[in-house]
Amino acid sequence: MGFPKTRMRRLRRTEGVRALVRETTLEPADLVLPLFVEADLSEPAPVKTMPGVQRLPIAHAVDAAARAADAGLGAVLLFGTASKKGPEAPEAYDPQAAVPRALEAMAARVPDLPLIADVCLCAYTDHGHCGVVRDGEVHNDESVELLARTAVTYAAAGAHVVAPSDMMDGRVQAIRTALDAAGQSNCSILSYAAKYASAYYGPFRDAQDSSPQFGDRRSYQMDPANAREALREVQLDIDEGADMVMVKPALAYLDVVRAARERFDVPIAVYNVSGEYSAVKAAAAQGFLDERGVVLENLLAMRRAGADFILTYHALDAAGWLG
Ligand code: PBG
Ligand code: ZN
Repeated sequence: MGFPKTRMRRLRRTEGVRALVRETTLEPADLVLPLFVEADLSEPAPVKTMPGVQRLPIAHAVDAAARAADAGLGAVLLFGTASKKGPEAPEAYDPQAAVPRALEAMAARVPDLPLIADVCLCAYTDHGHCGVVRDGEVHNDESVELLARTAVTYAAAGAHVVAPSDMMDGRVQAIRTALDAAGQSNCSILSYAAKYASAYYGPFRDAQDSSPQFGDRRSYQMDPANAREALREVQLDIDEGADMVMVKPALAYLDVVRAARERFDVPIAVYNVSGEYSAVKAAAAQGFLDERGVVLENLLAMRRAGADFILTYHALDAAGWLG
């Protein structure tokens, strides 16, 4: 039944036929736009390492959420930049900080848009680690307590989803328990379950001013060499009560997305991280790559690998290109 009976090109001849047999879809609703919110700003502040991305005053972030809703995006994901940092991340769970205030305003302005709040301490600690430091080490269980408080603060402010990105053990269970105890049983958890210690986060740390001041994150984020371990992380987070799980970064880890897709039935997200974004933007700015073509191809590959939705700084541009 090989050539000449089988001619694969028959189903590639026209756009109509190609559309009929297309296996994977990519739509604006599959995309989530990350936003950086900072209370003290009066004007948007460009992030030097991420062309086209800005840190936003609260009012501008709310406008951006409205644009995301108009573009048909699936959700927005909020990150805060701290005004005052401290060893115990005081602003992370302060209801008057930028993220809770932005959540309240967004919930009022765009009530139908899902609001996801990233939960971590690294933007709020003076040492830049994702947890509390004791004797030179990130202390797991003390960090988990503060993360749970942070998640409750965001849920109370209107987050539909909290997304812990810290990689402490047991945080999903602690957050679920704390949310339920606070009467926030409708708030869901998207866990950064398989988050790798990646060089691709560099530009983001510039945006959020969250670089560790000593050491690195390898004692809590995953070793890029490990894929089976990622499945254990995903399993644990599901057992602890995660409603959705994430793999991060995206492109270098699509094998992990595929493996998780085959094993688990919860919604799976993938994070197209800052370094992946900035690499494409820099190459496109030089005229080395066609931005639109490369971005849509990358996003489609993430969906083909099995991701239900994608967190990406390209979200608004991609939604525009998808029409
Ligand atoms: C903080 C956090 C990071 C990202 C999301 N949440 C950075 C890190 O872990 O150092 C990365 C996002 C990106 O690079 O786009 N916990
Ligand atoms: Zn962190």
